[in-house]
Amino acid sequence: MKKNFGKKAASVMAVAALSLSLVACGNGGSTEAASEAADASAGTASTAVTTSNNSGSENSQKPLVWFNRQPSNSSTGELDMGALTYNDKTYYVGFDANQGADLQGEMVLDYIKANADTIDRNGDGVIGYVLAIGDIGHNDSIARTRGVRKALGTGVEKDGDVDSTPAETNTDGSASVVQDATLEIDGKTYKIRELASHEMKNSAGATWDAATAGNTIGTWTASFGDQIDVVVSNNDGMGMAMFNAWSKENKVPTFGYDANSDAVAAIADGYSGTISQHADVQAYLTLRVLRNALDGVDIDTGIGTADAAGNVLKEGEDYRYDAETRSYYALNLAVTADNYQDFTDATKPYAPVANQLDASTSPSKKVWLDIYNAGDNFLSATYQPLLENYDDLMNLDVEYIGGDGQTESNITNRLGNPSQYDAFAINMVKTDNAASYTSILNQ
Ligand code: BGC
Repeated sequence: MKKNFGKKAASVMAVAALSLSLVACGNGGSTEAASEAADASAGTASTAVTTSNNSGSENSQKPLVWFNRQPSNSSTGELDMGALTYNDKTYYVGFDANQGADLQGEMVLDYIKANADTIDRNGDGVIGYVLAIGDIGHNDSIARTRGVRKALGTGVEKDGDVDSTPAETNTDGSASVVQDATLEIDGKTYKIRELASHEMKNSAGATWDAATAGNTIGTWTASFGDQIDVVVSNNDGMGMAMFNAWSKENKVPTFGYDANSDAVAAIADGYSGTISQHADVQAYLTLRVLRNALDGVDIDTGIGTADAAGNVLKEGEDYRYDAETRSYYALNLAVTADNYQDFTDATKPYAPVANQLDASTSPSKKVWLDIYNAGDNFLSATYQPLLENYDDLMNLDVEYIGGDGQTESNITNRLGNPSQYDAFAINMVKTDNAASYTSILNQ
């Protein structure tokens, strides 16, 4: 995947410098926390951060990477430091949620400003948008809702940050979780209103649900379609469902997140933009930290420092690393009509790190890896295909487990014999549930 190193890269770095400051909590695990985690996976509400003690068992000493969902309290965002430092070969790989969220908000705002003459479809002076929310307890989803509200000026403050609560229907502007904003473009004043926003969760409990988003846009447009000038979504799965169901035909600008291949291709048909969370860098890092730990080499090998095959990433441009939380974050890029041609294949390994490792120094190893929801568009259509490309390049024999997106036990039940594996890569259903996995490795 080629990237746009122009002004976008500069703004990416500028925002990256300001971004992400999650509160780290203390160590100090307990079995109580583990059972709370089990409750949470069974569907009972839990707000406790699960801290996981390491028992010293053989499996508890193996390399472990959490990815896509950072162990944390799903209500407060507080990081689960016990899980992040489970052993000295534990890491997290994700992307910079706040930097990407700000970028998404700016992308929408830039579009509105650049298309002021045509954007207000019914000419009522109100630029109305609707927002599809993925999961009200997921930090990426929360950050994206905030990023859009912040950029458009529709956010209201709650506990020192922008409220990310769904507004539900707000066609009259009376909702308390958002406010109307005023925007002046070319001497003309517009009102910006979040007409509606809703968590796209299906009746079985699956979040980020594309089908629910497709149905919801139908409900919204049936009652206030002429007021909708912009459609925004926390991800492309839901964004594309709304685009295909309504906005493509009605030529209403629609924005998502993830730069899935189908969404990038749809930019040619009017999908207005998405954000690449650099999945090609994330998938690489997910397996690379395991590979390095298995080989007993410096963790920076093939990451910030070139390996023998020439694989290397650019720190500050491709990713950043936070040593305290042992977390690698890929950096995001905006993908719009200006540059989408550079992003058409989301499943292609990133060229700077696409060199085969030598099997004499990096011999074949077995990895257990789960995807929290086999039906998640981003993880199944982009992330997993990338992992499958990189596992060959890194001589890793990966067993892929696809969850149902709802219950942790659906996945943990399939980690019956951890002794069969040399390393583990875990994508939790719920960020609170790290102990559901570490308790198995502790046995
Ligand atoms: C992605 C979403 C995905 C979610 C799952 C996010 O980072 O952007 O598309 O559904 O992860 O955890």
